[in-house]
Amino acid sequence: MKTSVGQDIEHAIALLKNGEVVGIPTETVYGLAADSTNEDAVLKIFEAKGRPTSNPLILHFPSLEAIEPYVLHFPKELAALAEVFCPGPITFILPKSTLVPFLITAGQESVAVRIPDHPLTLSLLQQLDFPLAAPSANRYGGISPTKAEHVFHQLNERIPYILDGGACQTGLESTIVGMQDQKVIVYRLGGISIERLEQVLGYLAEVKNELHHGVRTSGMVKYHYATETPLYFMEHRSKETSSNEGRILFKRSNNVVSAHDFYLSDSGDIDEAAKNLYAALHEMDGRGFDRIFIEQFPNEGLGKTMNDRLRRATAKFL
Ligand code: TXA
Ligand code: MG
Repeated sequence: MKTSVGQDIEHAIALLKNGEVVGIPTETVYGLAADSTNEDAVLKIFEAKGRPTSNPLILHFPSLEAIEPYVLHFPKELAALAEVFCPGPITFILPKSTLVPFLITAGQESVAVRIPDHPLTLSLLQQLDFPLAAPSANRYGGISPTKAEHVFHQLNERIPYILDGGACQTGLESTIVGMQDQKVIVYRLGGISIERLEQVLGYLAEVKNELHHGVRTSGMVKYHYATETPLYFMEHRSKETSSNEGRILFKRSNNVVSAHDFYLSDSGDIDEAAKNLYAALHEMDGRGFDRIFIEQFPNEGLGKTMNDRLRRATAKFL
C-alpha cells in the first residue's frame, strides 16, 4: 500500500467512511484514526501500530455535546475542567454508554474521550457522524509523531493517507484525568500541567501514572517513547565522551552550529521545548550517533511531563 501525504480533508473523510485508517494532526501529537463504530476499521489501527488490543483507545469528538451519547455521565469536577480546557490537550475517563464497543475500551466499562484543538481535525470530526478512535500514530513503544513526516517514517506502506496539519503546537500527548472517590486523578501527565488543573480544581490532583496504581494506560509501561539509539540523561554522562555522541539541550547557550547538539528553545521557554522535544528525539535518532544525552527539565509545568516521558524512554537503556 502506498502512503500519501496531503491536506485533502475530503479524501480523508472518504477513506474514514470506507473503514480505512488515516494519520491525523492534533495539537498534541499525530493520531492514527479510524471509525470507532466499525470494528474492522479499529482493528486496522492495532495492526498498523503493532499494538496489543489489551490497550484501550481514546475517542475524539468535535464538541462536548457530541460526547454526551457515548458516556453515562460527566462528573461536575471534570465538566469544570472541560469548560476551561476543551478543545485542548486533555482526555477524560468516563463511564461508557452502550454506543462504545468493548474493543475501544479493552473490555473496560470506562472510555477515554477528548476534543482535539486542531482546525483540520475539528473540521474533519464535524463532517463525520461517528467519533474517531485514535492512538498516537507511532509504532508501538516508539516516539509519538509531531510532524506528518514522523508518521510517514514509522507507518509508510501500512496506512493509505496522512492528513498534514503541520507541526503539533503542544507537542506532548494529552493529560488524562478521571475520578476516584470524588477527587480528580491524573492518570497520565500531558500537555496541560497539573499546576493549571489546580487553578481550576482548587487542589493539586493526585498523579497515579504507574502500573502499580492498577489502571492501565500505555504511558505506564516501563519502556515507552523510546529511541533506537541509546538515550541517557545528561547526569549519567561520563567524563570521557566519544566523538559520536549527540546532545539535546533545553536552552541555547551559544551560537555554534553543530550536528551533535540540538537546542530545544533559544530562550529557555518550557512550552517551546515541549513543542520541539519529540521532533528532537526523532531527528537525533536518525543521525547515527552511538549515544544521545538529554538534559532533565525543571520539575514544574510541562517540565514534569517531559521528565516523565524521558524517564520511560531512557529506562530501556539502563
Ligand atoms: O494526545 C493524545 O492523547 C493522543 C492524540 C492522538 O489524541 N493520543 C494518544 O493515544 O496519546 P494513545 O493511545 O497513544 O494513548 C492513550 C492512553 C493509553 O495509555 C491508553 O491506555 C489510555 O489512554 N486509555 C485509553 N482509554 C482508556 C480507558 N478507557 N481507561 C484508561 N486508560 C485509557
Ligand atoms: Mg501513544
